[in-house]
Amino acid sequence: MKTEVAIVGAGPAGLLLGHLLRAEGVVVTIVERASPDYVLGRIRAGVLERTTTDLLRRLGIDARLDAEGLCHEGFALADGERLIRIDIAGLTGGAVTVYGQTEVTRDLMAAAPERGLEIVYEAGDVALHDIDTDAPYLTFEQDGAPSRLEARFIVGCDGFHGPSRKAIPASVAKVYEKVYPFGWLGILADVPPCDHELIYANHDRGFALASMRSPTRSRYYIQVPLDERLEDWSDDRLWDELAVRLGPEAGSRITRGPALEKSIAPLRSYVFEPMRHGSLFLAGDSAHIVPPTGAKGLNLAASDVAYLSQALSAFFRHNEGTLIEGYSQRALARIWKAERFSWQLTSLMHRFPDQSGFDRRMQMAELDYIAGSRAAQTAIAENYVGLPL
Ligand code: FAD
Ligand code: DHB
Repeated sequence: MKTEVAIVGAGPAGLLLGHLLRAEGVVVTIVERASPDYVLGRIRAGVLERTTTDLLRRLGIDARLDAEGLCHEGFALADGERLIRIDIAGLTGGAVTVYGQTEVTRDLMAAAPERGLEIVYEAGDVALHDIDTDAPYLTFEQDGAPSRLEARFIVGCDGFHGPSRKAIPASVAKVYEKVYPFGWLGILADVPPCDHELIYANHDRGFALASMRSPTRSRYYIQVPLDERLEDWSDDRLWDELAVRLGPEAGSRITRGPALEKSIAPLRSYVFEPMRHGSLFLAGDSAHIVPPTGAKGLNLAASDVAYLSQALSAFFRHNEGTLIEGYSQRALARIWKAERFSWQLTSLMHRFPDQSGFDRRMQMAELDYIAGSRAAQTAIAENYVGLPL
């Protein structure tokens, strides 16, 4: 098989890049390890920046987004007692959209056949070859038979654990990493949210987040130790803990219901540089991870592929390679700012096992400062709504 751009991974980064390139007439094939149902079964991001929704609008894959996405003009930080509202619209003129990653993925998958975006699902043993040359290729197993896909470029959109990043020699790479000593336990339930906006809470017992997917579906998270076992968290225990950590006002408004999904995700900050080696590019979680506080991961994947689709279409349409040369540097400039914001909000809102009384007072003082400072609220709002491309 032959294509112009071979993409490894059909998560949000791979699907979005595939569509953006198809819209420019580039021939694309995506090779994905899992089945469509598996990809859709992972409950992850919930908050989209304007930069991300603009891409979906530009592609015309926005009918359900417009009908079902919830426009949020603010969110709150809670300190165990009060809610500090960050007025995103008033401070920045912008807003974010609550629309689940699952739905974005579903919409992009559904539009693939009519736009000539070829996706091979359930590909086994995907491996990258000859990325140092102008004729790289992938090998994989399809229905038990060996397959080979030749391309001009390969793009690794295969998440944190995929093979693409590992194909870049360690001698040319730099890794920056911070692992946090806790994870997030999430619950999804068909109950109305406790508030019409999101609440990020810093409580003595640890962080909690009240989010949603729709007016009838809630998504909540609590900070838990890394060795916590899912089996130890009955639905009742989790609802009790959320009610305490979200504080008296929001906590008392929680509607309880059976979990549709419960999972624990570790928290990590990670950046791999550079994001291009020879004919291989990296985009999304394959190159960088942010802790979820601040909702930046999926949005960074979207900005990466916005830059990369411009670069690759300039190459294929006008034989112009400057944007390809500049891709890594351009993407990393935005990534590092999102890394900074996610790290800062994570540090402000979580209980750290080695936290001293002084450290705790610093968190409380910072929240108190934010509560009274328009400048501090503006800095948070402009990062949350998304920095310009
Ligand atoms: P992925 O979604 O990981 O997709 C990678 C794809 O590659 C997968 O389909 C995988 O099956 C495939 N793959 C892997 N290995 C191979 C292989 N060997 N061969 C072929 N294919 C392979 N981000 C936000 O912006 N907002 C939020 O509100 C938010 N909340 C989050 C909450 C949680 C609990 C978590 C865990 C994450 C959250 N994120 C959020 C982050 C967001 O989910 C990720 O950043 C996003 O999924 C990255 O997309 P991606 O396409 O780069 O990678
Ligand atoms: C969600 C996840 C986040 O990481 C976040 O900051 C906000 C919302 C969510 O899954 O709804």
